[in-house]
Order: sequence, then C-alpha cells, then structure tokens
Amino acid sequence: MEYLTLSSGDRLPMLGLGTWKAEPGAVYKAVRQAIQIGYRHFDCAAIYGNEGEIGKALADATASGDVDREALWVSSKLWNNSHLQADVRPALEQSLSDLQLDYLDLYIIHWPVAFKPGVSFPQSAEEYFSLEEVPISETWGALELCVDRGLARNIGVSNFSVPKLRSLLQHSKIKPTVNQVEMHPALCQHKLKKFCDDNAVAVTAYSPLGSRDRATAFKSKKEPDLLALEAVREIAELRGITPAQVLLAWAVNRGTAVIPKSTNPDRLKLNFDSVIIELTPAEIDRINQSDRNYRFINGAFFTSKGSPYTVGGIWDQ
Ligand code: A2P
Repeated sequence: MEYLTLSSGDRLPMLGLGTWKAEPGAVYKAVRQAIQIGYRHFDCAAIYGNEGEIGKALADATASGDVDREALWVSSKLWNNSHLQADVRPALEQSLSDLQLDYLDLYIIHWPVAFKPGVSFPQSAEEYFSLEEVPISETWGALELCVDRGLARNIGVSNFSVPKLRSLLQHSKIKPTVNQVEMHPALCQHKLKKFCDDNAVAVTAYSPLGSRDRATAFKSKKEPDLLALEAVREIAELRGITPAQVLLAWAVNRGTAVIPKSTNPDRLKLNFDSVIIELTPAEIDRINQSDRNYRFINGAFFTSKGSPYTVGGIWDQ
C-alpha cells in the first residue's frame, strides 16, 4: 500500500474504500472482503446510514485476526445538522459507537453548510443555519477539543474551496490534515490541489469513477462518462488495464488519496490493484486534457428556495 504522510505525521493509505451508497446488506461483506484484499482505509460518514454495518464488519475482522485496529484507517464525517459547538462531540461519539471504535483516524466536516439540529435534509428555508449564524470556526473549535480528548487523531474538511480552507488554516490551532473533494479528470482542480500541496493539506479524491450509482434525481443528462473518456479508454487499451484503473491510477499518481466505492468483489480487487500502476507524465498530461470543471456533486441540493446557500457561494466560484 502507498501512503501519504499528513502534517500530523500520521500516514493515510492512498487507496481507501468509499462507502457512500454502499447498500445496507452488502456493505458488511464488502468491508470484510476489502480487508482480505488488503484495503486498510475506510471512508465513512454518519449521513451514509451504514456505519453500524461497517462497524460490525470492522469488529468481526479485528476479532478474527484479519487485521489489527492500529493498521486500519477509519474516517467519518460530521453531518450538517451537528455544527453547533455542543453537538459536535455527541455526533462523533455516535459514529464511534456505530463503528465500534474508541477513536477515529480522521473526523471531517462533511460540508461548509449548516442545518438546524435534528434536520437530516432541509424541507424549508427555516431549517438552515447560515455560516454567519454558525461559523466554521465554532465547529472547528469543537473538533479540536475532540482531538485533545483522543476521540479523533486527525481532523479535516470536505468540499472546502481555497478561500474557506485559507481562512481555516489562518484561524485554527490544530490544522486540517485533509480536504476531501470531488476530483477526477473532468474536475482536475489544479489550483485547489496546488494550494493544498503548498499548505501541507492532503487531498482525498471522492467520486473518482463518476458516482454512477447516484439517485437519478441528482443526475444530469449531460454528465460525462469518465470510464468512456477517450484518453482514459485509449490508455486502458494500450496498457491492458481497465478504464477504472486508469482513473484511480491518475489520482494516486497525482499524489492524492482516492476512495472508489464498490461492493463487488472483482471490482474491489481491480480497484485495489490500481494503486501500483505508474502512469507516465505524458499520460497524466493527456488525461488532464479531459478537464471541464464538471461537478457531479455540485451542492445544488442545499440551495432550495430561501436557503442561505448558493452553488457559487459553496465553491466560491
Ligand atoms: P459497484 O459497487 O457495483 O462496483 P464512485 O466511487 O465514483 O462513487 O463510483 C461508484 C460506482 O462505480 C458504483 O456504481 C460502483 O459499482 C462502480 N464501480 C466501482 N468500481 C468499478 C470498476 N472497477 N469498474 C466499473 N465500475 C466500478
């Protein structure tokens, strides 16, 4: 396994298992199989609704001697309804309880978007908090206390733009070690990646395969098919590997961690093997030509009528 050394000194396994959309009933088996294949990094979140099943798989895997807890890297994410200072630690403790763990390797602010307590997904404007009402600095301060208490070894963010990350870096005692963002050849995010590199923030690339198992309601008819991109297909053919492996190797070769989701044993193995594929600089340049600043997950679901959030505001674009 390849690792990224974080600013905390901890080592993040570059290939992790994404668990968003990993179906209840299937994710237990997928996690057990993934551990046997060699996966050590599991990317979870409270809102995915499957941390209990993942926790059972992790507990059974450690109890049966497949892996030691210390060799695992488990990340989870604070949902938008728990940004108030008093709500952060209980949310983290709920994830720990569901995951059957004493500590998380990484706890992440899922979005720079806040909802009122108890709201899973706002149905009306009143169910949001603006970031003026509940600033990220308040939420981050509570996360820092969780590190001090040993509940999380690293804290990080997700879906943070350069301005939001810059502000957090300037005003935090404990620095974010990771920014997890959507990243793939149709959304290379060169500037964000450079900013993270320059500031010792590791990047984890989510939706590296285009998240084609998303609900249809969240899909656009015009969205690119990453597996069918010409550069990706041609490099796959020339090298005798799969298009998905080209996409994952592209992420790792750029120095980012990457968290493809699969619950299929063959694809779990194919994805894991892609971490050792070395692409040439020319191949990476060629794949980068597919960039079109296209987001599959653009945050539009947080911008319904009356919401204090806009797509432009979330990404600062
Ligand atoms: P499955 O779970 O049946 O393998 P993302 O990681 O971008 O969210 O994409 C996840 C989607 O990609 C899922 O539909 C998953 O299906 C599919 N997938 C995972 N690995 C591969 C692969 N190696 N080739 C093609 N599709 C894959």
